[in-house]
Amino acid sequence: MTPHISANKEDIAKVVIMPGDPLRAKMIVETYLTDYRLVSDVRNIYAYTGKYKGVDVTIMASGMGMPSMGIYSYELYKFYDVDTIIRVGSCGGYTKEQKLYDLILAVKAYSKSTFAQVQDGESSNLLSSTESVNLKIMETAKKLNLPLSVGIVNSTDVFYSDVEDFHKIHSETGAIATEMESFALFHNAKHLGKKCACILTVSDNLETKEETTSLERQNSFTKMIELALESIL
Ligand code: HPA
Repeated sequence: MTPHISANKEDIAKVVIMPGDPLRAKMIVETYLTDYRLVSDVRNIYAYTGKYKGVDVTIMASGMGMPSMGIYSYELYKFYDVDTIIRVGSCGGYTKEQKLYDLILAVKAYSKSTFAQVQDGESSNLLSSTESVNLKIMETAKKLNLPLSVGIVNSTDVFYSDVEDFHKIHSETGAIATEMESFALFHNAKHLGKKCACILTVSDNLETKEETTSLERQNSFTKMIELALESIL
């Protein structure tokens, strides 16, 4: 048990797939897993452990934003001996090339957040996910015939910014999309010597102003979840 997770240590698998939304965690489990059980529900951040095609996996929500992702990923890695966390989430595309529902593999996360600096003095604002996990995800995407864009994402602390110039961020950092959690996950994995990855679905586009409804958003996650699950086999 930790301050934020009530599961026993043996109830969490070595591999965790993390959507932001607790109800999406429940939906993933009910759709894809067998032999699953709820192992933590502190603050309604549901964690379920079960089997996907015979392989143990935990599906647990991260909540929204880097502070929330930071707490859960840290506790999973540090106190539950989790090896790998794969975030599955949504993002806002920065250029017209990112079509709604496209899948993105975030190989790096750029951020202006002080998360990493405050956590252990990290000075870089560009952190990487784990190459071996990314290679497995790219290989799996090919096998499943799923187009996957590979790139940098901008992890922001502010969803409703009145001043952030996304064109500038795109041109200065190469980020192709924005989301709110990867930088904290990538930092904790690096800090604790663990593995991580992040697969995103484009749910809106800041350039073209296209966006999905929350229902469409929920349904469009199928491809991303299947990619994450098949990548752990
Ligand atoms: N900004 C930040 N996070 C997001 C967005 C966005 O536009 N879309 C989905 N997650």
